[in-house]
Amino acid sequence: MFLTQRKMKQAAFFIVCVLLVIGFYKGWAKTEEEQSFNDKRLRQIKQNEDSLNEIEPEAIEKMMEMDNDVPYIEINDLQEANTRIRELEDKLHRIEAKIESRVPKNFPTVKFLNYKNRKRILVTGGAGFVGSHLVDRLMLAGHEVIVADNFFTGRKRNVEHWVGHENFELVHHDIVRPLYLEVDEIYHLASPASPPHYMHNPVKTIKTNTVGTINMLGLAKRVGARVLIASTSEVYGDPDEHPQSETYWGHVNPIGPRACYDEGKRVAETLSYAYMRQEGVSVRVARIFNTFGPRMHMNDGRVVSNFILQALQNDSITIYGNGKQTRSFQYVSDLVDGLVALMGSNYTLPVNIGNPIEHTIEEFASMIKELVGGTSKIVELAAVEDDPQRRKPDISRAKKYLDWEPKVPLSEGLEQTVAYFRKELQRTKHSQKDEFETKTKASLKNDHDIIEQL
Ligand SMILES: NC(=O)c1ccc[n+]([C@@H]2O[C@H](COP(=O)([O-])OP(=O)(O)OC[C@H]3O[C@@H](n4cnc5c(N)ncnc54)[C@H](O)[C@@H]3O)[C@@H](O)[C@H]2O)c1
Repeated sequence: MFLTQRKMKQAAFFIVCVLLVIGFYKGWAKTEEEQSFNDKRLRQIKQNEDSLNEIEPEAIEKMMEMDNDVPYIEINDLQEANTRIRELEDKLHRIEAKIESRVPKNFPTVKFLNYKNRKRILVTGGAGFVGSHLVDRLMLAGHEVIVADNFFTGRKRNVEHWVGHENFELVHHDIVRPLYLEVDEIYHLASPASPPHYMHNPVKTIKTNTVGTINMLGLAKRVGARVLIASTSEVYGDPDEHPQSETYWGHVNPIGPRACYDEGKRVAETLSYAYMRQEGVSVRVARIFNTFGPRMHMNDGRVVSNFILQALQNDSITIYGNGKQTRSFQYVSDLVDGLVALMGSNYTLPVNIGNPIEHTIEEFASMIKELVGGTSKIVELAAVEDDPQRRKPDISRAKKYLDWEPKVPLSEGLEQTVAYFRKELQRTKHSQKDEFETKTKASLKNDHDIIEQL
């Protein structure tokens, strides 16, 4: 028993010793492992430091900045954001495809002009009837064209086929206010031209033709541009001389309802020659006679548009007075030829640009009735105040100095114009239908839904 106890004590002592040895060994091994791990880390840090030293300090600063900008984002948020971005991109592609199909990207082919021959040309009133045809001509010839228009009687649609072209610019501007541009030539056409339009706001008509013309002449003086003033046969008033040559001084009622236009244009001419004499501005003055063609105003109250519209709608064709008063009408492309020729010439006195072939109003009514067909009747109404009785240009100056005379026969021009008016009437019918449909849909939709549908 005694022996057994001793042996047991010895065994316990032995076990304790073994445990101590194992514990000591484990501690020693761990320290070794940690030491080697730390060594490894130190080597890595050293390596990183070495490679950082090779990077430019600016690059390190940038990386740190970027790191600061990135907010802390959960993985789920990132996935959600990616999905949303993809959805928005798809939507954008669909909208782009739709816009591309609507906006024609194929502009008419324009001539290439080198910088010496290419001019920067301002056309005031370029969104109007005559102006838009002139813009077409100048653009096709390869020039840079700026249109300044307040859209009183002009329409963006008249020049929309050039919007986006690198040579074209459309500026919404009222020329009664100054305009600062760098240009080589100015075609100054801005002014209402038909009696209902220019009598609608007579004071504004006078301002446009006087203050507006001063602004254009001032601009021409500042930049050394040549300026062409669109004057009118109305400066002859109700003429005593027939046909009217440029030397005729006119017979204008200065206080009648048309005076705002007639006298406005007369002052515009006076201003032009004052700027020429006093300031050395290079001016050209075109006295334009009645002109017609596509893009003329449907409701401008002038003979051609009135008669065509009445005939197309089978309404009575109305003549004011006995129909014996005469008019001579030129087609718009002939006028544009004349304006461009005058601008390019060295001739500085006023030049009549019109078609000398004279027709009575009665004859016009019958020609249009025949061309359109239909069931319209020709009826006579009371004469209009200050309505000139005769109007026919003497174009010998234009022939001599510009080598210009009209080429398009009246019947051909009328055919083109009737075709244009027919299309416009159909458009009006469609837009009225569209308006009705839009109104019906409007009750169901708000603006956001409509835009979303695009
Ligand atoms: N069409 C003709 O038969 C005829 C005859 C004689 C003279 N003219 C002259 O030719 C020019 C063009 O006539 P049109 O038949 O094309 O007329 P239009 O009415 O179609 O065009 C005139 C343009 O001038 C713009 N305009 C008017 N006031 C303006 C202002 N204050 N600022 C900026 N823009 C303004 C209008 O918005 C329009 O685009 C006019 O000066 C007119 O007096 C025309």
